Order: sequence, then C-alpha cells, then structure tokens
Amino acid sequence: MSTLAIKGGSPIRDAKTNPWPAWPVWDKKEEKALIEVLHSGVWSYNGPKEVAFNTAFAKFCGTKYSVCAANGTVTLQLALEALGIGVGDEVILPGLTWQATAATIIDVNATPILVDVCEDTWCIDPKEIEKAITPKTKAIIPVHLYGAFADMDAIMEIAKKHKLAVIEDCAHKHGGEWNGKKAGSIGDIGSFSYQLSKHLTAGEGGSLTTNNYELTEKLDALRNCGRRPEPINEEADKGAGVYSDDGNFYQSGNYRITEFQAAILLEGLKRLPGQNKIREENGDYINSLISEMPGIKPMKRDARETKKAYFNFAFRYHKENFKNLPIEKFREALEAEIGISVEPSYEPLNKCSLYVPLTKPSRYKLNEEYWNDINPARFKLPICERIYNEESICLHHKVLMGTKNDMDIIIKAIKKIYDSAEELL
Ligand SMILES: Cc1ncc(COP(=O)(O)O)c(C=O)c1O
Repeated sequence: MSTLAIKGGSPIRDAKTNPWPAWPVWDKKEEKALIEVLHSGVWSYNGPKEVAFNTAFAKFCGTKYSVCAANGTVTLQLALEALGIGVGDEVILPGLTWQATAATIIDVNATPILVDVCEDTWCIDPKEIEKAITPKTKAIIPVHLYGAFADMDAIMEIAKKHKLAVIEDCAHKHGGEWNGKKAGSIGDIGSFSYQLSKHLTAGEGGSLTTNNYELTEKLDALRNCGRRPEPINEEADKGAGVYSDDGNFYQSGNYRITEFQAAILLEGLKRLPGQNKIREENGDYINSLISEMPGIKPMKRDARETKKAYFNFAFRYHKENFKNLPIEKFREALEAEIGISVEPSYEPLNKCSLYVPLTKPSRYKLNEEYWNDINPARFKLPICERIYNEESICLHHKVLMGTKNDMDIIIKAIKKIYDSAEELL
C-alpha cells in the first residue's frame, strides 16, 4: 500500500508538473474583441456587443428576451422587483445555496423562507415547498445547484396551483436542459451569474432571461436607473439606446455591465456548448465509476435532465465505509493526492457565516415581527446540514475539462484513500 500524499507519500497527480486544465479559458479572440471595444470608445451603455450578447444568450436559452446586469446577485434582486415582490411577501428557496439567493429577498424587504433539499440532488425538495406555502407566499426560487437540476415539473405545478412566480437561479446552469427546455426558460425569469468561477464568465456579470415582454421592459429599466427602454425589440435592440421620455420611469439604480464584459461573454458563449459537452462526457464517465465504489455516491442524474451543465463536480461521501474517517480528513487527503482544492458544499443558510441579516438592524429591522421572521436560525434544515457537515465533496469544474485519464486519476486517488484510511485515523 503506498503512503498517502498527506503523510509524505507521492501524490497520484503532481499538479505542479501536470496541471489541471486552466480556468478561465480565453485566446486571441477575446484579445481582439477587447481591443475592438477599447478603440471604439463605447465602453458601456447598450453597446453593440452587449446588444448582440443579449440576442445570442436569449437564443441560446430558448427565451424571447435576455437582459444583462452587473452580477448574479443583482439579477435576483431585479427579478424580485420586476415581479413586484416586497414588504409582506414570502419567497421560498432552498436552504442550500449561495447566500445571494436569500440576501436579495431581504434586500427587497420580503421574507426568505428556507426549506430543505433532496438528499440526492441537493436541490429544493418540492414536498417541502408545499409545506411552506402560506397566504403570504409570492414566489419560489429553485436553484439548479452544482451539477443537478431542481425538479421543475413539480415546481411549476405547485406554482401554477398556488399562483406563485418562479425565478430560476441558474448561476450554475448555463446550457443545462430539463425535458429539452433550457435552464432559465422554464420559470417566469431565469437569473444567471458570470462571476469568475461560473462556466460562462466575464469575471463578473449576470443575465436575466424571460419570455414576458412586460417583465423584460421592467428588468431593462431596473438595471438602468429606472429608464424604460422603448421599444425593446426594435430601437434598443439595434443598440440605439433609445429610452422612453414620457416621464413614466421606475425608481432604481445603476446595475449595468460594461462593453468589455459583453465582448468576453460573446466569445465565451461560442465555446460553451463544446465545453458543456466535454464536462458532460467526463462527468457521466466519472459518475459511472463512482457509483460502483463503496463509501461514495454520485449525484442523481434525473432522466428528465436532457442536457447536463456540470458546475462544480460534486459527489457524496459516507464515512462508515471509510473506517469512520471524518469528511474533513478525506477532503484534505484527496486534495493532497490530486493537487486541487476539495471543498464542502455551500453552508446551510440557517447557519451560514455570510448570511447574517441580524448583523444589520439599520437596514433590516423594519419592525419586531420582520426582525424575527428573517432570523435564519428559525429554520430547520436537517438534510442541508447533513450534506454540508457529513457528505459533500466538491471539485472545481475545470477537472471535468480534462481527459478520461484525468477522471481515472481522481478515482485512483479516492481508492488510495479508501485503502489507507487507517493511516489518517
Ligand atoms: C447559486 C448562486 N446564485 C447566485 C449567485 C450570485 O452570483 P454573483 O456572484 O454573480 O453575484 C451565485 C454566485 O456564486 C450562486 O452560486
């Protein structure tokens, strides 16, 4: 039995001499596009590349409209505002997601209702949504987390029955498909992030997708200091930057992106389908191997997920099969063997160090009742907590951009830890 890398043995992969694929991906095309923007002097405000990207991204998602905004946090906030959600309203979301999904709800003065997730997808559990609905409920925000898809059939049925809006948080899901429909085209609004770790990135940025013209008009205005575009499909889509001056504006701020970001996104979008395909092939391959190994389990791939868009590559750990080796030690050992960071899932939002609304009474203490309602600790999320504390293993999606041999290396590393777990106890 060879010594584990964490104990001074040779790693399965020396990432210094044999690095994993790089992220982000760019080449001369991005360079050229950025120089073009630089020389054009049109650095922001509905430049031709932003307009072209909106059109291309809407087409990619199979929606009628797409609007860019500053990031995937602001997109959620603007989606809530466009749907008229605010004081007195409740919004149901999964307890396992990035803090922004909940933080934007309190930022519009509504109440986040955290519910538990399915243990095999880590996405919101439709049964828990049903239990959480009250007369105050106005919307559901399913999050398509890491490699999985929330059960959009069940969610849309619940939404229809109770007349609720659905905002899909697609920060992890550019290009994923459910029953042949792209993420972001199923609910009322899709919200995307282009932050550096995302598989379509401009460093920062975001998009909102929808099929609804009125919502698009509002979203466009809300990201642009409240100026209503007029009309979206004709003048504004030509990049003319024509805005209504009939005095009928909205209150809002500046949440625009720059033309440099749009230039990078246009090039990235051309690469995305090919990259998603490689990630899908590698993800499915490694999951097929994982499903045969003791102590680890792949995330469930729902048969209705017709196209995968793996974000972080996630799988589940069960210490009982690893001689009770604590998950933290497993993660450290795997990291040492493969030379890439191995992380847990996001923290459950009822115990999340970055979702702490009660640290800001100046903003959120609207009244005693609201103050109590937004206390995250009031929600019980046993499955989210188990996932975070005991089961979740997440690797950056760049590992999925490698070869089959790279996938075998990960499996080999897991087997080595399995065989040598006692060394770490
Ligand atoms: C699920 C989810 N929603 C929203 C966001 C927010 O996106 P951004 O970082 O672009 O603000 C993120 C970012 O990590 C995310 O993972």
